Amino acid sequence: MRPAYDLVVVSNRLPVDYQPGAADSEQWRPSPGGLVTALEPVLRERGGVWVGWPGVADLEVGPFEIDGMPLIPVPLSEQDVERYYEGMANGTLWPLYHDVIVSPEYHRQWWEAYLEVNRRFAEAALAVAAPGATVWVHDYQLQLVPRMLRDARPDLVIGFFNHIPFPAHGLFSQLPWRRQIVEGLLGADVVGFQRTADASNFRRAVQRLTHLRIRGDLIELPQEGREVLARPFPISIDAGAYQELAKRPDIWARAKEIRRELGDPKVVLLGVDRLDYTKGILHRLKAFGELLEDGDLDVADVALVQIAAPSRERVESYKHLREEVEMMVSRVNGDFSSLGRPPITYLHQGYPRDEMVAFYLAADVMLVTALRDGMNLVAKEYVASRVDLHGALVLSEFAGASDELRQAVLVNPHDIDGLKAGILQAARMPPGEQARRMKAMRRRVISHDVQRWSATFLGALSGENRGDG
Ligand code: G6P
Repeated sequence: MRPAYDLVVVSNRLPVDYQPGAADSEQWRPSPGGLVTALEPVLRERGGVWVGWPGVADLEVGPFEIDGMPLIPVPLSEQDVERYYEGMANGTLWPLYHDVIVSPEYHRQWWEAYLEVNRRFAEAALAVAAPGATVWVHDYQLQLVPRMLRDARPDLVIGFFNHIPFPAHGLFSQLPWRRQIVEGLLGADVVGFQRTADASNFRRAVQRLTHLRIRGDLIELPQEGREVLARPFPISIDAGAYQELAKRPDIWARAKEIRRELGDPKVVLLGVDRLDYTKGILHRLKAFGELLEDGDLDVADVALVQIAAPSRERVESYKHLREEVEMMVSRVNGDFSSLGRPPITYLHQGYPRDEMVAFYLAADVMLVTALRDGMNLVAKEYVASRVDLHGALVLSEFAGASDELRQAVLVNPHDIDGLKAGILQAARMPPGEQARRMKAMRRRVISHDVQRWSATFLGALSGENRGDG
């Protein structure tokens, strides 16, 4: 018999991805996205189990452990990857939930695959959940799982957290399967969102698509004799871990080396994103290029480092974005480079956490200019890393983090002139003002870290006072 667990985390990806062809010790690497950073500490602390996909098609592996953390792989076939992951999750739901920055596609075959794969995840979770266990389901890929779990096992306590935005009803109602999604989510006891607006968009969808009564944050399900709590729980990072790294002399030495390699410019600007159209990378590059052209920034003084981690590379809109970004980088570099000194250093790669902290410490200005973003943990990582109170954060109003990091230079990335003004303000910010703003932002990130986030969510799930997020 399989062991049973009192806490089961279910997410599309396991915290590690399988690397085909790699040496044994390199076979499992941390998987992309913020989820891992957020959940790993919770799971370790509570001794739970993680159910998810190992990141490559057609891989059949049994349960295994990484550093003592039990993992249950859910296999996806090549066709599941095409229809459920690249299709319904990232060709339909991702663009729809990010305010249709690119057009969502609606295909019935994708929906069928979504249904079937959600069932597979639910079954994998059911197989390891102890009686009365808490099952915490994550993100837009798995919105049908809460209802499937409840129908099979009413003894379970079920939470769902949506890491990305939840769209306004005018957009959500495009979805041919909108009712099934809402019903899927209402299988949970607590449905958590990043921002107040996301939670109220969801409650509005419930109001429009069902006859259920809503009282404040609570949705009443009289036929089932229960209520669903739908409210914001803004996610955070393991702030302590970033602070620790940012105190290490070797990481400071690496930060200095990065600046040196860039030619020791007066101002280093940094962007760190998955290569995704929601991140506003093109808007950022355009604004930077215009600042050089206008002469407001001088190539002799500034360097922009853009880290763009590869993502969803077989999805058409991502391929297209990559071409556009790379064209824009070469255009700006072609126009403004002097020999060996390109204004933009573009890195289409992902980096381990210690190297990321070195980049954060090397950067005077951090650019987070997303067009739409559930939270954006990079903004919080930058703040947590700046133990020296140096640096300025340019932050989009359309990223969830802007609800909390009010002392950032807040910008609307669609307004290129406003964005340019924001970048200049950050690049010219006097040290005293940097320190004052950074101190306030650090207070927020350190006091509202991921440990507090998960404790608040799990507390609400166990019926404790509903916390303050
Ligand atoms: C976002 C989503 C995550 C996802 C991550 C990486 O952060 O909220 O659910 O895992 O992007 O995307 P990927 O498609 O590579 O899992």
